[in-house]
Amino acid sequence: MPPSADMETFRKLVNAAKHVVILTGAGVSAESGVPTFRGAGGYWRQFEAQQLATLQAFRKNPSLVWEFYHYRREVVLTKEPNPAHLAIAEFEKRLQHEGKKVVVITQNVDDLHVRAGTEKLIRLHGSLFQTKCMNCSDIAVNFDSPICPALKDKGKPDTNAEDARIPVESLPRCQKCQGLVRPGVIWFGENLNEGDLTAAGKELEECDLCLVVGTSSVVYPAAMFAPQVAARGVPVAEFNLESTPATSRFGFHFEGPCGKTLPQALSP
Ligand code: OAD
Repeated sequence: MPPSADMETFRKLVNAAKHVVILTGAGVSAESGVPTFRGAGGYWRQFEAQQLATLQAFRKNPSLVWEFYHYRREVVLTKEPNPAHLAIAEFEKRLQHEGKKVVVITQNVDDLHVRAGTEKLIRLHGSLFQTKCMNCSDIAVNFDSPICPALKDKGKPDTNAEDARIPVESLPRCQKCQGLVRPGVIWFGENLNEGDLTAAGKELEECDLCLVVGTSSVVYPAAMFAPQVAARGVPVAEFNLESTPATSRFGFHFEGPCGKTLPQALSP
């Protein structure tokens, strides 16, 4: 049977649920103006994210990788949470008052869920606004703009922009040991944080309703989370502009911008 698009039936399940997991991807921030990875706007200069979001790329040219992340930080700092982020945060508050639980598990690194007021949040891929020291592994929160003087006005995304070739001493440094820091995000080929994975696994096992919002469901392990919940017989609803490889595994599919569909689904 193809997934249902019956919003009234889904809203009844929302009202009856006691423990809701909301899995989100780049699409939840698209209406804030943050580019997604796999649609138009997925490129920075001539690079796809997969080419720069690796430890090998950072070791080879830390200046170039920092330019890319500096650009992404600066873009996000000009953006605001959209109605989808806000609907999720308000839903959590409302259910909390009723003694119920809502947990957001996001693949996004833009912190827009935090800024919208979401409290129970697992950031599977880290945050653009954290740094990790390559030397002492210290993790620090950092909202500086620019993150260091040498990156000011660098990181332009156009294909003809020049590689800034910033000397490593002038790139962002650790407050504790002065070592080179890297962006506090999980890169391709790296394992997710063990604690986050365990926490996410527990929520996915215990939830009685799951929403999967704005993700192409192609990057593992997050891509298998919602299908696993559906396989336990728990209702899962996908909110996306289009079908994904996981759509046929879910009971509900609501096509359209989640800034419209989520407020409809989650409002009192
Ligand atoms: P993608 O860019 O792969 O997918 C975005 C999804 O959002 C697509 O399925 C779009 O159809 C959908 N979408 C876009 N705008 C939408 C809107 N307004 N409302 C609803 N849906 C919309 O992003 P992710 O699935 O998040 O990993 O990508 C997963 C991971 O791959 C990212 O976290 C990142 C990336 O490489 C790392 O950086 C480790």
